[in-house]
Amino acid sequence: MQKYHNIVILTGAGISAESGLATFRSSDGLWNNHPVEKVATIEAFEQNPAYVHDFYNELKPLVFQARPNAAHLALARLQKEYPAPVSIITQNVDTLHEKAGSEHVLHIHGQIDQAVCLNCGRVMQASGDVDTETSCPHCGIAGMMKPNIVFFGENLLCMDEVDSLLRRCDLFVSIGTSGVVFPAAGFVQTAKYAGAETYEFNLEPTSNNFYFDRHIMGKAGTTIPAFVEKLLTNREN
Ligand code: APR
Repeated sequence: MQKYHNIVILTGAGISAESGLATFRSSDGLWNNHPVEKVATIEAFEQNPAYVHDFYNELKPLVFQARPNAAHLALARLQKEYPAPVSIITQNVDTLHEKAGSEHVLHIHGQIDQAVCLNCGRVMQASGDVDTETSCPHCGIAGMMKPNIVFFGENLLCMDEVDSLLRRCDLFVSIGTSGVVFPAAGFVQTAKYAGAETYEFNLEPTSNNFYFDRHIMGKAGTTIPAFVEKLLTNREN
């Protein structure tokens, strides 16, 4: 008999830091070198799509060469071995969870290896460059492709499923997120109101720590494998 019946995990850029990918708000973070308002808002894409395409085209090779680290691998093991559903919701646009073997990962901020056609609405794999000239392989229209990344000012993806998972979970685990960007930063509250135990894994306490029962400080590559081992061995605890 296991202790939990529905585990929900939310990950942020911090889980990919040990894979060599920059986070967003640290001192050498992505947003320090590229202001959000120039590359990550729907207004920026409307005003200067070429500049935004360039930013993500340059980011793609860096993301694609990254390998999953021990934290991603531990979560994939938990999904496979824990005798109850383990759902992973990620704010990250990298696919390191999938590369580690995780399945049905919910990318609420989209994926950098995808593009969406604003003419026909189709989402497609796009590992190569996408720009203002790119034609949609489905409807043939050029110049309407957008990185399948959720910009500030856009709706999140997968939110129906996310909301249902949060309302049913009895363990909510947040890993490597600063907890400053809503709605994701509010997921812990929904889980807490549903009666879940809530854990936060980070290098330091975040501003969003009111709803967390436990705070485990340290690098995710170390703390998450230990936590998964504990969940898999002390199921009754
Ligand atoms: N282990 C655990 N936590 C870590 C590690 C690590 N090795 N390295 C960094 N962190 C923590 C940092 O302390 C910080 O709290 O990860 C967090 C990263 O925070 P952000 O850079 O703000 O990234 P994130 O929370 O994922 O941002 C959320 O904001 O700009 C948007 O769309 C973007 O998805 C992103 C969202």
